[in-house]
Amino acid sequence: MTIPSVGILGLGSYLPPKVLTNLDLEKIVDTTDDWIITRTGIKERRIAEKGTPTSDLASEAARAALKDAHLNSSDIDLIICATISPDMLFPSTACIIQRKIGASCPAFDISAACSGFPYALGIAESFIRAQICRHVLVIGAEVISSFINWKDRSTCVLFGDGAGAAVVGPSVKNGNRILATFLGSDGNQADLLKIPAGGSAIPSTKESIDAGLHYVRMEGSEVFKCAVKTMGDAIFEVLKRSGRSLEDIDCLIPHQANLRILNAVAERVGIPKEKVYINLDRYGNMSAASTIVALSEASKDGTIRKGSFVVLVAFGSGFTWAANAIQW
Ligand code: UT7
Repeated sequence: MTIPSVGILGLGSYLPPKVLTNLDLEKIVDTTDDWIITRTGIKERRIAEKGTPTSDLASEAARAALKDAHLNSSDIDLIICATISPDMLFPSTACIIQRKIGASCPAFDISAACSGFPYALGIAESFIRAQICRHVLVIGAEVISSFINWKDRSTCVLFGDGAGAAVVGPSVKNGNRILATFLGSDGNQADLLKIPAGGSAIPSTKESIDAGLHYVRMEGSEVFKCAVKTMGDAIFEVLKRSGRSLEDIDCLIPHQANLRILNAVAERVGIPKEKVYINLDRYGNMSAASTIVALSEASKDGTIRKGSFVVLVAFGSGFTWAANAIQW
């Protein structure tokens, strides 16, 4: 049995139209445009209309990726949705997406926070290599604004909503190839970035809601330090696994949490800043949607071309981290 090489056959993204600028945030919380830009690099972010489920954004991104791949929903053998803002605790958002796009295949969610898309891409790659599936729809989607405390300036300025999708399958002639994937996690750091309530540990009660335990909580500076170190290490590990060197990287697509983190990663690993793709100024941190929206945009705006060697790298709650190396 020949093990197929696996590639991305189509990409798509969807950003809700409503823009929330730093100046808008100045009117809601005690913050300034200057603080947000200097400390994070974020200028604005997209916010879904109240009551919009994550599956709506995800389905739009999925349709765009299917179109890009010249495939129909009936061609999809598996849907994996990476999200930390699911429509509900169960059923999975992937099942709801399956219904919305008219697919008929297995579907499940994965929870790896901001590392969700690179994790899901690695899972899809394995299913295709094992010949369990031919075409896998991999989605990263968030309506994280539903889980943000808009009175907490230390978190509410950081995040945004959005979705991206990739159709993954056996590589086509002259198409791209996923060369390697690296996944990591460390549950000892689970308390540094979380939504404490709403699960079995702290079921939602009036008290938990009054205490704001259903919102994102983060120890920002601890997360910052770990993100820089871990994303740097993940880049070197995926390079080793793909038999490539740092100089081979044409485009680094990192998780878009903070421009200072990205600059520090670039400096730590020794990659020129011009090779680091950045869209966080427009979208903020979209958690699991972040790397796939950036990859989709980079492939459409000409940053990634035939022959480009691309590395995706992410870090998030868990802690989790992941990297994929792709030869375009
Ligand atoms: O996506 C998963 C991974 N997530 C991340 O990677 C995020 C990692 N962390 C970060 O990006 C940064 O730690 C933050 C952007 C969250 C915070 O930046 P910082 O430079 O670490 O600031 P800080 O938390 O140390 O706060 C510095 C000051 C504090 O005031 P005092 O105590 O020095 O008087 C904060 O109260 O800035 C204050 N502050 C703000 N001021 C204006 C915190 N948030 C704001 C705000 N506007 N929005």
